[in-house]
Amino acid sequence: MLPPDEPTAAIACTVNGQAIRTQVPLRRSLVDWLRHDVGLTGSHVGCEHGVCGACHVRVDGLVVRGCLMLAVQADGAAIETIEGAADALTLALQQAFFEKAALQCGFCTPGMILQAAELLAANPAPSRAEVREALSGNYCRCTGYQPIVDAVMAVGAALHAK
Ligand code: FES
Ligand code: FES
Repeated sequence: MLPPDEPTAAIACTVNGQAIRTQVPLRRSLVDWLRHDVGLTGSHVGCEHGVCGACHVRVDGLVVRGCLMLAVQADGAAIETIEGAADALTLALQQAFFEKAALQCGFCTPGMILQAAELLAANPAPSRAEVREALSGNYCRCTGYQPIVDAVMAVGAALHAK
């Protein structure tokens, strides 16, 4: 429920392929809107100032930090969250993260996977250093990063073998 004096604006966008027309508070971040108004809680909120990468979503195909973008800026955009990301790379990464035990609490995992998918789309056979560089804006407090890099490398190796 919005306070009666909260200024809002109309937006029209798609979220995971579903068209949405609604009013959004001018100050609401994209990730807060997705979580609290759209009900998609797969994108997480960690630092709220662009450091941790937990809030990653795709906007028009590019990974962005949902805490640094306002919902009103998504007017006209195609937004994809981890719940709707069903491309082959994302699915392969989800399986690899499972197989390599690349998650514990899972808080960082949606952001990690979306960022890793963007890396592998641009560079199907990255080195470990390139994986670390690509994921350097995604924090994980649990895994020590090694199994995350292992999972991304495994998907890269499978792509390279094709
Ligand atoms: S919550 Fe957006 S980068 Fe941390
Ligand atoms: S698995 Fe817990 S923060 Fe990464």
